[in-house]
Amino acid sequence: MSRHIDQRSALVTGAASGIGRACAIRLAEEGLRVAAADLQTDQLEQMADDVASIHTLDVTDLAAVQATVAGIGQVDVLVNSAGIVGPQVPIWEMPLEAFEQTLAVNLTGTFNTIKATIAAMRRRGWGRIVNIASIAGKEGNPNMVGYSASKAAVIGLTKSVGKEVARDGVLVNAIAPAVIATPMNADTEPEVLEYMLSKIPMARLGLPDEVADLVSWLASDACSFSTGAVYDISGGRATY
Ligand code: NAI
Repeated sequence: MSRHIDQRSALVTGAASGIGRACAIRLAEEGLRVAAADLQTDQLEQMADDVASIHTLDVTDLAAVQATVAGIGQVDVLVNSAGIVGPQVPIWEMPLEAFEQTLAVNLTGTFNTIKATIAAMRRRGWGRIVNIASIAGKEGNPNMVGYSASKAAVIGLTKSVGKEVARDGVLVNAIAPAVIATPMNADTEPEVLEYMLSKIPMARLGLPDEVADLVSWLASDACSFSTGAVYDISGGRATY
């Protein structure tokens, strides 16, 4: 039996690939009306039958996010999975523009979607927001300065917003995965991937479906006394 109540709507960003895709399909299977948003129109079109609607969207563009949300109507559940790694180089080789772009997608994109949806969630007295952060935001991965900083900031944002709406029925949590087997890692340098895998006691990559399970719980009524929290899904890597 689904843990979700029928007729709730979800917006999932980064829904065309990897974790976002697994979350969008899982929530749709569980009875939510899912709006899948991403930059990649072609990939979205391939999943059009699995979700209620698809939306080509750049999460860095607040006006575009607001327009998309207005088009969807009600958003009860927001899953922020849109993200980029950026160049994997030491800080002295990191171009400012690439650093700023990584922050723009991972951090400002999360800010934008929450800003566009949270007022209505508060009015309705119910909402669930799940931000996909990363273990990199807790520990800092070398050669991922923009990524690690953006994910640490997403954790800080989650903690702030969670407290702001704690009495409004809107719960805001983050998850911190270690390496998950998704297309994102196709661009990760082999030595960076090796470093990340070597830190996972279970000695394997996580799967998008394993992440979707956790996100589904965080997006439901079953999650009732947690907000502003960070849930690890890291094969034992996270120690705090
Ligand atoms: P992915 O690369 O498979 O999917 C990310 C999606 O975000 C892509 O479909 C991409 O088109 C979309 N996207 C990028 N920029 C966008 C923008 N400006 N507007 C809208 N959509 C945009 O990556 P994956 O692995 O599914 O990652 C999802 C989230 O999980 C990301 O936030 C990532 O940082 C996080 N994460 C991933 C881990 C992993 O090992 N795969 C580990 C920890 C966190």
